[in-house]
Amino acid sequence: MTTTPRRATGVVSPSGDAAPGRGVPNPLGPSFDGVAPVLRPTPAAAPAVRIDGVSKRFGDGPLVLDDVALDIAPGEFVCLLGASGCGKSTLLNLIAGLDRPTSGSIETPAAGAAVMFQESALMPWLTARRNVELALRLRGVARRERREKALALLDTVNLTDAAQKRPHELSGGMRQRVALARALAQDRPVLLMDEPFAALDAITRDLLHEELERVWRATGRTIVFVTHNVREAARLGQRVVLLSSRPGRVAGEWRISQTVGRRIESPEVAALSVEITEQLRKEIRRNAA
Ligand SMILES: Nc1ncnc2c1ncn2[C@@H]1O[C@H](COP(=O)(O)OP(=O)(O)O)[C@@H](O)[C@H]1O
Ligand SMILES: [Mg+2]
Repeated sequence: MTTTPRRATGVVSPSGDAAPGRGVPNPLGPSFDGVAPVLRPTPAAAPAVRIDGVSKRFGDGPLVLDDVALDIAPGEFVCLLGASGCGKSTLLNLIAGLDRPTSGSIETPAAGAAVMFQESALMPWLTARRNVELALRLRGVARRERREKALALLDTVNLTDAAQKRPHELSGGMRQRVALARALAQDRPVLLMDEPFAALDAITRDLLHEELERVWRATGRTIVFVTHNVREAARLGQRVVLLSSRPGRVAGEWRISQTVGRRIESPEVAALSVEITEQLRKEIRRNAA
């Protein structure tokens, strides 16, 4: 795969204008230590996911996604942020290969991607361990290894004690942990998450942010995390990609270089959230005009 900079990388500054090239002083400057508007990247390795000029419409309906371009590096944690209905799930489904773009192309690793949704969609009659074992079985893991592997995965999401419980005996947060363990059981290099914590209360969500960050660091997965929650995106992402609405386009990108020790209440998360929200408002005004 080439590493030639392309217009189609779609990298824009938070002003929504084309990113300045290397060497060109960035007029916006960093918002605070550790966060800077994204400049043209110099990929060290071939991207794990390459989205190139992707547009999508359903039937003869309106354009849902318009010329979306995005390279996601192996092991990167990208948050796709946008208002409800802007096309986030549509884009995630395209990356997952569940649907096809109307035009443009998407490249993903041959080993594919695991997907996790807002609803855990666990088998209600199976215990947490059996739910994870099912994913291992579908992957072709031998029966004698499944139990131990499933327990190890449940341990990864801090759920060892709940291995014998059925979904109805678990809290919403615990069910999402099982769903995460099950997604990890698929052993795919890319993990696609569609608002996985949107139905959880704020305290549980905060805990799961910590879990997910730990799992990400431990497993080196490439994560594409969809959310409409600005704070969540600023808390979790190494990069936040803002999608505009009707049609969905990349309207801004922020890269966060210092992600260690970040908490939802960190001042830098608050500052970034303010900046992103301002850009989001601009987008909404532009569409309303
Ligand atoms: N299968 C489909 N058929 C027709 N329209 C769809 C389909 N899926 C999504 N849409 C439309 O595409 C737009 C974006 O939807 P979606 O990707 O679900 O948004 P988001 O996930 O950002 O809330 C919406 O207007 C939705 O109605
Ligand atoms: Mg959605």
